[in-house]
Amino acid sequence: MLSTAFLDLPPLRSAGGQVRLPGSKSISNRVLLLAALSEGVTEVRDLLASDDTRVMLDALRTLGCAVEETGDGLVRITGLGGQAPRSPARLFLGNAGTAMRPLTAALALLGGEFELSGVPRMHERPIGDLVDALRQLGCRIDYLGNAGYPPLRIAHAAGLPALQLQAPIRVRGDVSSQFLTALLMALPLVAKEQDVVIEVVGELISRPYIHITLELLARFGIAVRHEQWQRFTIPAGSRYRSPGSIHVEADASSASYFIALGAIAQGAAGQNGIKIEGVGLDSIQGDIRFVEAARAMGARVTGGPNWLQIERGRWPLQAIDLDCNHIPDAAMTLAVMALYADGPTTLRNIASWRVKETDRLAAMALELRKLGASVEEGADWLRVTPPAAAQDWRAASIHTYDDHRVAMCFALAAFNPARLPVRIEDPGCVAKTFPDYFETLFGVVRAAAADIPVICIDGPTASGKGTLAAAVAARLGYHLLDSGALYRITALAARQAGLAPDAGHADAIAALARSLAVRFDADRILLAGRDVTDAIRSEAVGMDASRVSQFPAVRQALVALQHGFARIPGLVADGRDMGTVIFPGAALKVYLTASAECRAQRRYKQLISKGISARISGLRADLEERDARDMQRSVAPLRPAQDALLLDSSGLTADQAVDQVLDWWQARRPFAR
Ligand code: DC
Repeated sequence: MLSTAFLDLPPLRSAGGQVRLPGSKSISNRVLLLAALSEGVTEVRDLLASDDTRVMLDALRTLGCAVEETGDGLVRITGLGGQAPRSPARLFLGNAGTAMRPLTAALALLGGEFELSGVPRMHERPIGDLVDALRQLGCRIDYLGNAGYPPLRIAHAAGLPALQLQAPIRVRGDVSSQFLTALLMALPLVAKEQDVVIEVVGELISRPYIHITLELLARFGIAVRHEQWQRFTIPAGSRYRSPGSIHVEADASSASYFIALGAIAQGAAGQNGIKIEGVGLDSIQGDIRFVEAARAMGARVTGGPNWLQIERGRWPLQAIDLDCNHIPDAAMTLAVMALYADGPTTLRNIASWRVKETDRLAAMALELRKLGASVEEGADWLRVTPPAAAQDWRAASIHTYDDHRVAMCFALAAFNPARLPVRIEDPGCVAKTFPDYFETLFGVVRAAAADIPVICIDGPTASGKGTLAAAVAARLGYHLLDSGALYRITALAARQAGLAPDAGHADAIAALARSLAVRFDADRILLAGRDVTDAIRSEAVGMDASRVSQFPAVRQALVALQHGFARIPGLVADGRDMGTVIFPGAALKVYLTASAECRAQRRYKQLISKGISARISGLRADLEERDARDMQRSVAPLRPAQDALLLDSSGLTADQAVDQVLDWWQARRPFAR
């Protein structure tokens, strides 16, 4: 999961391969609440792990449900089964509408004292229509901030008042379908002696989400009847019963990004487009109908019960004019696909976008314009005209408004024909529904090698380049190549094979280097399955590394391995010859130095902190000996590349050095500032 301030996507070329998507948010949070309201234990499989499900799980625990997470997406919930929830209780529900609305309704009907709040944006998302409906019934709910919005207090300290269940409960259907969903999930708790009827006032938007609600209610023993999606009857004698075990489908809205990817990207060599596992054409999620829209724009989509396969068909994509009321979330993906269409695309009936995580209509219009599109925006529609030609595209820094879907759909702009990078601000906001979105995307997209940015940080031993490179990579979300580690591993492998670092063994050591069974696992390094992270850091191995690195055959043997580290979204490489030999075309080259005195001090502190005793004078002599050898060797001697920027870190803190490199990097990026 990324938690950088921004993520720069290099221009992307093609895509192919298989993805597994996280569970559906809508299904996950509904299932959790239904399991909590049921009698018995429910095992939920493939539950989405995200911010929104996290707040729901926390809330259920606070309310007294036993929640057991066994890892691998399996959660076991023991339902309240008619018991009163623990009260008084305060629930923090983040920005999860799928938690706020249904919990409000369920708790208002169960009775007790509760405070429900969320992040500031949650307090701008309407809930008044639901509260009105619950008040009609006789529930007591107070607004703690602005009328019509969370935070709320539910107060039934002295037991529930008699509920007015005879007359139909009327609720508006044209602001958010979650109000109706909330009532549908809460009212079975009180449909004991009589049928309970809900009538929708106004047009019901996002009907597919109500379909999910009804499907899941049925799995938990509640058979709701409905007439024309306007009048819903919960039969008398309804009682929640756990289905025992329930599987959460992969999220169809999340699938939309990969369906679009298949439609936009050229197939990668040897791959039949994109295959999505975990959700298929028979999904109960409304957003599966995004498939129809994608087909209308030209995608070739096939599928079965639990999979989808997508290939690019028509190109450029066909512009469309579509009523998107049935796929409000996935429709955002269409707005980005529209950038690749042969004319203006119009998305209609999307007023609900204005009350989502952000005002999505305004956000999409603004960000699409930054890329060079012309965009018209109405109260409930959006028209996107793509940039007229490749040169009309702009390198944009996409603001994401703490809205996961904005971040996810705009990643697709990286296929622009101008081959411009796209910056996604706050990429970590995808955690709401798809924490590993970018990693999943990077698993199936390809870029031209020359388009993957590389930052080189070369310099003498103990100049601090390793620390600097790791920090820069972490700030940019880039991969890291510690090339010195490769020479160290080679030296260690040579010793283990009984080969001293002598010229006579150069070819044998090179052969070892060519087939190193090395794996870089988070912050551990494994050689033939053994953890050598600490072993390669010894002074003795460092000295050996300096020796083996003089052999041209060894250097040559490690070239391909080093090039392999340049992967999407980018690389920070540190060593001696990153800028001069391995990545001569790197976008930024830094040559880091520090006085010998200062470097000896740093190495000394490093060793002492690890409990290894050392003498500064000896360390300094070793450093100077290694510098001399690294600088004088015949191949790839240590020296700054001609176009390298020199950074003397003697008087700088580690943070200052990082900031300097990031400043240089920003200045070279094409994004307007
Ligand atoms: O950066 P370090 O101390 O981990 O590097 C160990 C040795 O490897 C160093 O003495 C020189 C050699 N090396 C090299 O020749 N080229 C590189 N790109 C990196 C390291």
